[in-house]
Amino acid sequence: MILVTGATGTTGREIIGKLRELGATGVRALVRDPAKASFIRDAGFETVEGDFDRPETLDAALEGVNRALLLTPPSPQTFEQQRDFIESAKRAGVRHVVKFSAIGADSAAHEGFGKWHGQAEDYLKESGLSWTMLRPNFFMQNLLGQAQQINAEGRIYQPVGDARASFIDVRDIAAVAARALTEEGHEGQAYVLTGPEALSYREVAAKLSDATGREITYVAITPEQFRQGALAAGLPEWLVGALERLNEIFAAGYAAEVTDHVRTVGKKEPTTFDRFARDYAQAFKGE
Ligand SMILES: NC(=O)c1ccc[n+]([C@@H]2O[C@H](COP(=O)([O-])OP(=O)(O)OC[C@H]3O[C@@H](n4cnc5c(N)ncnc54)[C@H](OP(=O)(O)O)[C@@H]3O)[C@@H](O)[C@H]2O)c1
Repeated sequence: MILVTGATGTTGREIIGKLRELGATGVRALVRDPAKASFIRDAGFETVEGDFDRPETLDAALEGVNRALLLTPPSPQTFEQQRDFIESAKRAGVRHVVKFSAIGADSAAHEGFGKWHGQAEDYLKESGLSWTMLRPNFFMQNLLGQAQQINAEGRIYQPVGDARASFIDVRDIAAVAARALTEEGHEGQAYVLTGPEALSYREVAAKLSDATGREITYVAITPEQFRQGALAAGLPEWLVGALERLNEIFAAGYAAEVTDHVRTVGKKEPTTFDRFARDYAQAFKGE
């Protein structure tokens, strides 16, 4: 039995789709609200109710599970949630955990997603369980979170200057995750997952303009303008701080690395930003 967590989220939905495409059987998804998960049952898979914040629910969800995908939401509790899941997986006799991590995961990093994922990676490595780390770069789909502003103003605001990042389409991450969950040979591997090219936001804006037929421009803002804007938009302090760390990594050029794991492990051509922009053009058309 394979257990997928985070299955109703941005990447999890695509992972369920990929597992279906691969003809996987014996798949169970841990969900908080089974009513939101009919698409998983429609794919021929099981759902089980569980919550990372109620660790006592995890043992039952993991019963009979051999491999698990550990994908938790963006949260300052990332380490605690993943630690509790790993402990539960050990009790249940799970053999292999595929951990959804992040590029730059490092327990020695400053407070933020990189540190929390790094701490959870260390914990998993020391757990005695077999593991695979998936370390994706910035998702192309993050731009959908800015679609409202892009639609209203035709502008993308970011505090990263002209630095580049190899944004990845979550559909490509899903292809790798589904392989890691269903094939042998990924044990002890840490895959940095990227798109096929490193792009600046100026280039991203130009590609979105081409795909939508409307002018979208990039405005480079300062870190302080980012902080004020994010707080004014109602983002909590912990998230603003974590996003600032990510912006620093981006601005310093550390997110520009391009790897080939989507092709070699996911067995698909990496999705270009042009393709993403065409597929999601409607969301950025401002209509
Ligand atoms: N965005 C990026 O660029 C990026 C890059 C690298 C790594 N990451 C990592 O990617 C992960 C997020 O992936 P995503 O964006 O695909 O996820 P997402 O869309 O935020 O979805 C989160 C999933 O987790 C579930 N969930 C939330 N709280 C839960 C809880 N307490 N117990 C059980 N399930 C819970 C959600 O279920 P509900 O439907 O019930 O809410 C949903 O299925 C994070 O670990 C993040 O650090 C993100």
